[in-house]
Amino acid sequence: MKKNYQNRPIGIFDSGVGGLTVLKEIVKFLPNEDIIYFGDTARVPYGIKSADTIKKFAFQDVNFLLSKNIKIIVVACNTVSSNAMEDLKLKYKNIPFVDVLMPNAIYASQITNNFKIGVIGTPATILSAAYKKSLKRLNPKIKVFSKMTPLLVPLAEEGFIKGQIVDSLLKHYLKSLIGKDIDTLILGCTHYPLFEKSISKICGKNISVINSAKHTARTVKNILEDYNMENYENKKGDIQIYLSDIPNNFERILKRFLKIRISNKIEKINIENF
Ligand code: DGL
Repeated sequence: MKKNYQNRPIGIFDSGVGGLTVLKEIVKFLPNEDIIYFGDTARVPYGIKSADTIKKFAFQDVNFLLSKNIKIIVVACNTVSSNAMEDLKLKYKNIPFVDVLMPNAIYASQITNNFKIGVIGTPATILSAAYKKSLKRLNPKIKVFSKMTPLLVPLAEEGFIKGQIVDSLLKHYLKSLIGKDIDTLILGCTHYPLFEKSISKICGKNISVINSAKHTARTVKNILEDYNMENYENKKGDIQIYLSDIPNNFERILKRFLKIRISNKIEKINIENF
């Protein structure tokens, strides 16, 4: 039993604002936990970079969170989850990790009826074929249809998430997947829940759209319970956000789209030092 771990914060990281969709769900499931969030806003997007660069960035992100004495690390980024998970688990053996890919894949494999699953993600996520491999391992009958949707991350970072231009782009990206008769669509990037309403509308009622945040949050809760690391104190958890660059629109995205209120000041750190 790791009793002294119960009061430590949960560490979460992403390349930018995307991981906040996961943070939001974790707060719902575990309201009394303290959370340290790191968004690598100076180096976003990760999804168009090579696997080696993604790994290097992920190591630095984890080193930063470890310096904050966290008890678990939530990799709230599909690009890192698809390209660096094995290396992270090998390098940091003493800390539990939760990635966003497996909870997504498990849920999709459970709800598909026709075994045709679509996945959208960053180029690095799709090129890694990590979703395809995981889904096939869960059920060899599953057919996976993948599509890179690289313009969605910059739009989300800009807070440009609805309207005619966004809808035409989404229709363009989703057309080929819908044409493959998928009954389940995985939003394989933590930035994409910001477009969830429009994506669900375009997909129609015959396609279930999976936003990994909820399933990831449940997995975090289960792991904390298993390790007896859950914080049972009767208080509201404290959220501290660190960024490698503070973009002008960050607070607006927090308030307007994610509806997350942060009482602490957002702090800037130099991630190259970690
Ligand atoms: N939000 C991330 C993901 O889930 C990364 C996006 C990016 O940096 O390209 O893949």
